Amino acid sequence: MADHALLIGMTGMLAPVAREIVGESQHATLCARGAAKFSFGEKFLDDKVMKLPLDYTDETHFLDTLRIRGPVDLAITWLHPEAHELRNAIADCVVPGGKIIEVMGSAAGRPDGFADERLDAMKSQLGKTYRQVILGFVLDGGTSRWLHHEEICAGVLTAHRGFQPRTIVGTLDPWEKRP
Ligand SMILES: NC(=O)c1ccc[n+]([C@@H]2O[C@H](COP(=O)([O-])OP(=O)(O)OC[C@H]3O[C@@H](n4cnc5c(N)ncnc54)[C@H](OP(=O)(O)O)[C@@H]3O)[C@@H](O)[C@H]2O)c1
Repeated sequence: MADHALLIGMTGMLAPVAREIVGESQHATLCARGAAKFSFGEKFLDDKVMKLPLDYTDETHFLDTLRIRGPVDLAITWLHPEAHELRNAIADCVVPGGKIIEVMGSAAGRPDGFADERLDAMKSQLGKTYRQVILGFVLDGGTSRWLHHEEICAGVLTAHRGFQPRTIVGTLDPWEKRP
């Protein structure tokens, strides 16, 4: 259970994960451009959440606002850009003993992708648990498909509850068979 969970980019396909985390946290901060309009549809959950309508591409304003909100003990991020400085600054908001979960697209897991770099960077976050979730695809007979939202959410929650630094949801191999 988190005292203060920070959820970034989780009002779309990852909303069911946000719901689960908020349910088991004391309070949470939810960041997305449209955060103000987002609702879990349950007062009990909405009352625990500070919704911040922020654009993470405006890194300075985004981080200044997060810092005002104070430290967190769980941060889950679904960011499209590599944005290493932004990712590191978000990790800095997590207290020692806390956990950082980064969700990333399939290209991050390629040999030239940034997933390995993130694993290395997080070694400097002493005393913090790091979990990385790479979204792959599913081989389906002779064809392939992207993950369903339920599969993505289940993979993120598995990473949260589990002990593996890296979780690949679906597969990244063979890469040329991706949809
Ligand atoms: N490997 C796979 O199978 C895989 C991987 C990735 C995606 N997908 C598919 O692709 C679809 C689209 O993915 P998606 O990431 O666009 O959808 P999404 O997860 O449903 O939405 C993106 C999230 O990030 C927030 N966001 C986006 N840009 C932002 C910004 N500049 N600042 C702050 N927050 C921002 C969005 O809220 P706001 O818009 O309110 O800011 C939302 O919370 C998914 O629905 C999924 O089906 C599949």
